[in-house]
Amino acid sequence: MSGKLIILNHPLIHHKLALIRDEKTGTKDFRQTVAEVAMLMAYEVTRDLPTRKMSVKTPVGLAEVYVLAKEVVIVPILRAGLGMVDSITTLIPTAKVGHIGVYRDERTLEPHEYYAKLPGIVSEASVLVVDPMLATGGSVKHAIDILKSKGVTDISYVGLVGAPEGVRKIQQSHPDVNIFLAALDEKLNEHGFIVPGLGDCGDRLFGTK
Ligand code: PRP
Repeated sequence: MSGKLIILNHPLIHHKLALIRDEKTGTKDFRQTVAEVAMLMAYEVTRDLPTRKMSVKTPVGLAEVYVLAKEVVIVPILRAGLGMVDSITTLIPTAKVGHIGVYRDERTLEPHEYYAKLPGIVSEASVLVVDPMLATGGSVKHAIDILKSKGVTDISYVGLVGAPEGVRKIQQSHPDVNIFLAALDEKLNEHGFIVPGLGDCGDRLFGTK
């Protein structure tokens, strides 16, 4: 069994991804557009969240309504994942946010954890791991390893651009985790960068290069 790979095929996402990929796009537009795509993706990613029935009294009568049955926790992988958080919490204002800091060694491409802070209720929650880039998949795999070690069972990964190598790694190591991407690109180059990708997302988001 391997987790589902869902590529979100939507004209607005395609249009915004064109701007994100363009090397001429500066920090302000890049940051804003990453957030917009994350919001559009969140709408689809949360489609199957469990709901429970209850009733509320309207000014006119009693209405049967459906509300989220479980807490939602968003877990950005630092740094680039931060660019996807605020727009998702706009859609799900009750969501809690955990942070996992992982950097990729530029030479070995191995993930190194430097920070982890998760909400206490995380094991009961629907967890969305967010990181715009799925390259070798090492960082996302590591984040999911941490979450599972805390007893989390309901995990989805949401990213902008993925490489086939990263998708394979997550599908093999965590076959229960669904992978949502805005685009699946061709390959990794010899430096572990996604081709054609969008460059270094963290640097473009925060203007550090
Ligand atoms: C980049 C990117 C992902 C990771 C993807 O982060 O934002 O987190 O690499 O690579 P992988 O799939 O091979 O693990 P980076 O390590 O550059 O850190 P940053 O977000 O702080 O810039």
